[in-house]
Amino acid sequence: MENIKSYVQQHKDRFINELIELLKIPSVSADTAYSQDVIDTAEAVKESLSKAGCDYVETCDTPGYPIIYGEKIIDPNLPTVLVYGHYDVQPPDPLELWTSPPFEPVIKTTDIHPEGAIFARGACDDKGQMYMHVKALEYMVQNNELPCNVKFMIEGEEEVGSASLAWFVERNQEKLKNDVILISDTGMISNQQPSITTGLRGLSYVEVEVTGPNRDLHSGLYGGAVANPINILAKMIASLHDENNHITIPGFYDKVQELSAEERAEMAKAPFSLEKYKNALNIADVYGEKGYVTNERNSIRPTLDVNGIWGGYTGEGAKTVIASKAFAKISMRLVPNQEWEEITELFTKHFTSIAPAGVTVKVTPHHGGQGYVTPIDSIGYQAANKAYTETFGVPAIPVRSGGSIPIVALFEKELKSKTILMGFGLDSDAIHSPNEHFGIFNYLKGIETIPLFYKYFVELSK
Ligand code: BES
Ligand code: MN
Ligand code: MN
Repeated sequence: MENIKSYVQQHKDRFINELIELLKIPSVSADTAYSQDVIDTAEAVKESLSKAGCDYVETCDTPGYPIIYGEKIIDPNLPTVLVYGHYDVQPPDPLELWTSPPFEPVIKTTDIHPEGAIFARGACDDKGQMYMHVKALEYMVQNNELPCNVKFMIEGEEEVGSASLAWFVERNQEKLKNDVILISDTGMISNQQPSITTGLRGLSYVEVEVTGPNRDLHSGLYGGAVANPINILAKMIASLHDENNHITIPGFYDKVQELSAEERAEMAKAPFSLEKYKNALNIADVYGEKGYVTNERNSIRPTLDVNGIWGGYTGEGAKTVIASKAFAKISMRLVPNQEWEEITELFTKHFTSIAPAGVTVKVTPHHGGQGYVTPIDSIGYQAANKAYTETFGVPAIPVRSGGSIPIVALFEKELKSKTILMGFGLDSDAIHSPNEHFGIFNYLKGIETIPLFYKYFVELSK
């Protein structure tokens, strides 16, 4: 595959421009105001797959946004790679913090990306990373180097919990039959040190509502005499962690898979600078569960975080008021063996039980999913490692990530195949934040590395 490097060099401007066109469509799945754009993006993805060389493409209707399916079957006796990605993106707000509009992609340089990065919502998560696979297919088809069968399944609801994808996978087991699932929707350590994600955390996401008096009250006339839902909510939330930052929900840790000392020592070998980490975030110190280091706290340990909290008066100036209601959105990141539905129940039971008389509490579950870990001795992992080693000049390091792609555990359960997470993003790419970007280096390197995965996967499967 000497060719791939020169093919990428020759076509890189077009590759970048095609991605920019895709990024211009605001496919925000969380907000119905964008629903036509989400559908338009699906169609653009479909067209790109047929142009890249799929023999068959289909818009699969679901109860929600469509799933784009594409395939090129060259020989039923050869292995089949199933590529998964998502064409939906996170909402872009807060808009005022973007240095250029989120859906008007521009290339700018940064300290980490001296060769430039594309700034736009979805640049890294996941349009840019998904599109690397489309261009890798184009290369393999154009140059007669596709060594096996390939199927694509690109969905539009990943950022809102993948409900329709679960529905689709259950109903299309035969169609989706494969030997390995390949996903680029994660990150790597740095542009000098590739890594392969071997674990994802699970998730339980809930919303809570605390109700006190039947109406907003004058905070002078009633203050001190009735429960203030905002004070109470703050107190209840604070009580969910103890002085060691352990989570206090009874039973929360019961099923947590503890790592052996050897496994933790292995993890500690991954390059990491606490100083750089703190500097990048402008914080004086890190914070978290006692007994664990930063790289453990954000990957192998479960967490509980408030994602949003509101209630009462937040407008200009001061208003003296005790609100009738207070709200919060809370996410719990889970680790292997914790069952997300069980954790949601434990949370609900505990949170309701700690409410003092004088308020009522309502807990509404949003979505969730199971965590995932994958072994490093599989053919898929070995193939990915060989591919990275060839394009980066150094072997990849296995790393467990703190993020979640809940559908991966479902793939294993329903389709009985392992997922290989070949991510090319960086933590500094600001996914879900203002000024999300994806390095040009990373985008092109991804396109270069993916065909090698196919090559080595087929070789090792023989
Ligand atoms: N691509 C991310 C997940 C991710 C990013 C994993 C980087 C590892 C490294 C995905 O799009 C995402 O944002 N997932 C959500 C969960 C989903 C149910 C909304 C998440 O992790 O918050
Ligand atoms: Mn993603
Ligand atoms: Mn995301």
